[in-house]
Amino acid sequence: MKDWVQKFLRGNISRREFVERAAAGGLSLFATASVLDARAHAESHAGEIKHDHHGHDHSHDHHVQQKQVASPPSRKWDQTNVNPWEQWLKQENLPVYKDYYISDLRKAEVKPWKRLGAGVTGAYIDLVGGEGVNVGYLCELAPRAKTEAQRYLFEEVMYVLNGEGESLIWNPGSRTKQSVKWKAGSVLAPPLNVWRQHINRGQKPARFLVMTNAPVVIDLFHNLDFVFNNDFAFRDRYNGESDFFGAGADKVHHKNTTSEESEQAGGVDTWDSGFVPDARELALRESKERGEGNYRIELQLADNTMQAHISEFETGTYKKAHRHGPGSHVVMLNGRGYTLMWKGSLKYSEAPSQTQKRVDWVEGSLFVPPDGWFHQHFNSGPDPARYIAPTWGGDGKWFMRALGGGGRTHRLGKTSTRKGGNLIEYEDEDPVIREIYEAELKKNGIELRMRPRKGKGK
Ligand SMILES: [Fe+2]
Repeated sequence: MKDWVQKFLRGNISRREFVERAAAGGLSLFATASVLDARAHAESHAGEIKHDHHGHDHSHDHHVQQKQVASPPSRKWDQTNVNPWEQWLKQENLPVYKDYYISDLRKAEVKPWKRLGAGVTGAYIDLVGGEGVNVGYLCELAPRAKTEAQRYLFEEVMYVLNGEGESLIWNPGSRTKQSVKWKAGSVLAPPLNVWRQHINRGQKPARFLVMTNAPVVIDLFHNLDFVFNNDFAFRDRYNGESDFFGAGADKVHHKNTTSEESEQAGGVDTWDSGFVPDARELALRESKERGEGNYRIELQLADNTMQAHISEFETGTYKKAHRHGPGSHVVMLNGRGYTLMWKGSLKYSEAPSQTQKRVDWVEGSLFVPPDGWFHQHFNSGPDPARYIAPTWGGDGKWFMRALGGGGRTHRLGKTSTRKGGNLIEYEDEDPVIREIYEAELKKNGIELRMRPRKGKGK
């Protein structure tokens, strides 16, 4: 409890002194603005603030918010074009990565993260292809460091890049904390709005990537107090179940799907848990619709609307090109290769140069195919290449129509462009695709395992 907030609300310190103390004391821009509004309102309704306080020792943000609900302050009606997510990003005061890709998440620069405590560093990831539907952040804990406990109304998928540690998780209003131990390769999805505290239990720094749908939630409510200080417990999603973060064979379910995609008529195999001990080792199932030597599994994490899947393809092979909406963040878990991304033509070589991107990747690389861009993944290394791809609401368990649910933005991603779909079959692809790939394999001394292209006379 900061007594200078109350002093200002009671008129005991000046507006200037309050603003200076707010800046020095780390009070958020939103909270500062709320307090200033509340004071302005009080000045025009003398005596009301004092009456409301009753001497209760509420958190000031919480108090001010309750007051706003009861009696809104005077409003300004001008259009501002203020983007709440970007405002939030600014006040976090961390590096923000905004390119098409990040070469190595393990090496990306991070800076002290004041909000999360001593020994905690971080950076935000707001890549072009995220298009504001989902974003990420890197968080690194020094040995023995831990984050402050936090909770919020956006979903998270956390992937541990290195180190080992533990997360404590508990519902608002509950005293029972559940512990989940993790290490490099683990995936953890803290359920919606649970308190979470991450602790480094190792001798080295522990770094993890977290993908979230924070921009959607923060923009929608544009009230940080509601998003970050909400007592609601989503017990329908998580109620302290002892095996919620379990990893037994019982977590894999074969699910039928209502998707119109004929390729999924046989259903999909899905991992249902809040945790994956090691995504690099999780058993996958053969999946031919996206290419030769292709394996995958869907992840239904913590009953989220955010989805993820893990995909792997063998050495000497590449996947078919396809396109869909924004936000599929591809995190390379192992292997070596490259991805081509393009827009404006079925043929890569005919796409305008500004919409023609090549991303060379290794373990720890991250990239996001932008909205509607074709993209095609190539394994040019000696081992299988595997990635995890978290994305915002799509056509998993929870059908979110507005957010592309039921395949609106991902529709016909496995149907040939010849049939009006968004997947380029091998026989329809730009011949230069195979030529580039064969040259890469030759350079690396890797054997081609693809069937010969039709019409090549072999
Ligand atoms: Fe894709």
